Amino acid sequence: MKNIVLIGFMGTGKTSTGRLLAGRLNRPFIDVDKKIEQETGLAISDIFQHYGESHFRQLERDVISRVARYTNTVIATGGGVVLKQENMVRLKNSGIIIALTASLETILDRTSRRGVRPLLDCEDRAERVARLLQDRANLYMKADCTIDTSCMSPHQVAERVIVFLR
Ligand code: S3P
Repeated sequence: MKNIVLIGFMGTGKTSTGRLLAGRLNRPFIDVDKKIEQETGLAISDIFQHYGESHFRQLERDVISRVARYTNTVIATGGGVVLKQENMVRLKNSGIIIALTASLETILDRTSRRGVRPLLDCEDRAERVARLLQDRANLYMKADCTIDTSCMSPHQVAERVIVFLR
């Protein structure tokens, strides 16, 4: 069976939704960032700080090339996975791509409350988020289905994915 791959900007709920979705569908769950952290023994923020973004992108590409060979798995990716076309080709070949979106306000709120995001560790987070969203908008639109999660809980988003898959 095909994988279900969640893509989307930081704070759109890929990890929480993916975990719930995997539980509901009784499938394994993989979070790409978590896997990178487990394999390197380093937090994502430390990888960015000590080795730079391009090194992180290589680690990400390496994990994607392996998880794209899995089957039947729910895969939550990091927000920047769309930046490399080869990642998207591999993921598209491996399954159904679901893009999660959210409003700028929702993203700012969620990313201020949960997790450490090295790309948003700056003076003007709102400006940075707006610019990254603009740069990446077309890339996220390549998904098979797009769900705006702004006013939804991860449970509701998982339910919406299940309805789409039927
Ligand atoms: C990134 C998103 C992060 C993480 C890294 C880079 C991005 O994952 O992979 O900090 O470029 O958007 P989340 O989308 O899970 O926060």
